[in-house]
Amino acid sequence: MCGIVGYLGKRDAVEVVLDALKRLEYRGYDSAGIGVISNGKLKVVKTKGKIRDLATVVKEHDFKSNIAIGHTRWATHGKPTDVNAHPHVCEGIAVVHNGIIENYMELKEFLVNKGYSFESQTDTEVIAALIKDNYEGSLFEAVINACKNLVGSFAIAVICEMEPDVIVGYRKESPLVLGVGDSEYFLASDIPALLPYTNKIVPLEDGDCLLITREGFTISNNGDLVNRDIMTISWSPVLAEKTGYKHFMQKEIFEQPRAVADTIHGIYSFDENRFYLVESEFEERLKGVNRIVAVACGTSYHACLVGRYWLERYALLPVEVDIASEFRYRDIFIDDKTLAIFVSQSGETADTLAALKMSKKRGALTLAICNVMGSSIAREAHDVIYTHAGPEIGVASTKAFTTQMAVLYAFSLYLGSLKGHLNNKDVSSRFTELMKTPRLIEEALELDKKLLELALKYLDKKDFLYLGRYLSYPIALEGALKLKEISYIHAEGYPAGEMKHGPIALIDKEMPVVVVAPVDRVYEKVKGNIEEVKARDGIVIAFTSEGSEEISKKCDHTFYLPKTYEDLSPFVYVVPLQLFAYHVAERKGLDVDQPRNLAKAVTVE
Ligand code: M6R
Repeated sequence: MCGIVGYLGKRDAVEVVLDALKRLEYRGYDSAGIGVISNGKLKVVKTKGKIRDLATVVKEHDFKSNIAIGHTRWATHGKPTDVNAHPHVCEGIAVVHNGIIENYMELKEFLVNKGYSFESQTDTEVIAALIKDNYEGSLFEAVINACKNLVGSFAIAVICEMEPDVIVGYRKESPLVLGVGDSEYFLASDIPALLPYTNKIVPLEDGDCLLITREGFTISNNGDLVNRDIMTISWSPVLAEKTGYKHFMQKEIFEQPRAVADTIHGIYSFDENRFYLVESEFEERLKGVNRIVAVACGTSYHACLVGRYWLERYALLPVEVDIASEFRYRDIFIDDKTLAIFVSQSGETADTLAALKMSKKRGALTLAICNVMGSSIAREAHDVIYTHAGPEIGVASTKAFTTQMAVLYAFSLYLGSLKGHLNNKDVSSRFTELMKTPRLIEEALELDKKLLELALKYLDKKDFLYLGRYLSYPIALEGALKLKEISYIHAEGYPAGEMKHGPIALIDKEMPVVVVAPVDRVYEKVKGNIEEVKARDGIVIAFTSEGSEEISKKCDHTFYLPKTYEDLSPFVYVVPLQLFAYHVAERKGLDVDQPRNLAKAVTVE
């Protein structure tokens, strides 16, 4: 996915922008570029390939500058080539852009008729020409007027030779944040790019046009100057470094005990028997809620599936879970007694955001569970509960998942007590169990070496089946998603009891079947499913609770995990599945943190 950065201050702008771009590499990209004002002249260098290739070319120019914009491009319109890389320039104006301009063909025709010519196949070059066409001495005004004509979702950063001390940014449905330093300003599509420089962030809102000068910044929206709060982000720069791990994904798997502990810290007071999760106004409306929908994509959707069991069990409410891209087009019944929960690590997933807007419009009370402060979903919902995973850089989501589950579990207890179904003793004893999960995750991480051995044995397999029931069914789905997205091995997650309605036909002596089998209310049933797999010569890799050794007689490989309070097994059982997927992909020599075709945040539909 594309990345934007910008810098205006006293430092070497090229150095800052290249460094910030490097921090966006995890988003995946195929070309990169930088635009600077050096000795009063606009200079642009761009190239297909990696930031290190760009840095080599930039070095040859020896630019002296303290204003620059930069970009990592992930091709949508036009192939990954030097020419299609950003910035795109029109008569002294340079633009970098994330997103898609839907009406760029008609705008191009309009501009060609006015005498503009184009050298790339991108929609971005059209933006540069349109800004030029609107330029009458103020870049800020020109950007505002040009953007009125753009249809689509986009974020842009613009500099121009005519105003050498100005950067203009514009945001519409694609993330863009301002970083505020000491007499210096930064612009980025993602907060991690800026962490070494500042933790003071202003997330722009839709329709915001930002003017950065050496004296300060102003934001205009729809003709009015607006004030936006400066937020202090608690993420430390170290959280966005690999700190000795080979990959971010590996680091993030091992960070889970800390991430879960940070997420649940301070949200429940044993002394007062109360939760600190939502605002009082939100709580008032929550009292009237009689049904819940939980909506998300990918791993966050799997967290919702786990959350459903807890919400049903503790809050005794009907709960429906759906994938955002499906949900948003359904004629689903929603009213003001519906609580709609939206779970998203990035807080920028386009389908989840659209589903949220749709639910709000129909009167639902909306709650976001997000990891990124000030993100679009966090801002759009009536209330937000943040996970404190820290920046998640690996494309494969890991610590976001366990922290989302932690919030969903705590929220289920809270709602259960609010609705009068759980007394203080029930809540405090269950919350105490939740507080044990960081230690239990740590114990699960000790299986790492054994899982590497398992990965070495099976990394050439073409297909895997993951089975689980009850709370372990979403964990089977999540395990399969992890394997397929980073190792490119076909893997399917299935409810174990549903196997005989189809997938059992796939099982033969070549097929590894991963079974998530904690000792819980469906354990005996799952043992029956394992027998069914073995009867067809399948290879069974089972994960079960310490003490249930008898299961190993039926399985090819058995891994034991610490016993948990029944409801909390997902926290522990997902860990070996993450580690197994990681080792398979790593040993296959694949790009674990940036798997092919995937973006960390899917900000387009
Ligand atoms: O940022 P979000 O949680 O909204 O992202 C949702 C999915 O795109 C994400 O979980 C994706 O499926 C991951 N690659 C899974 O590892």
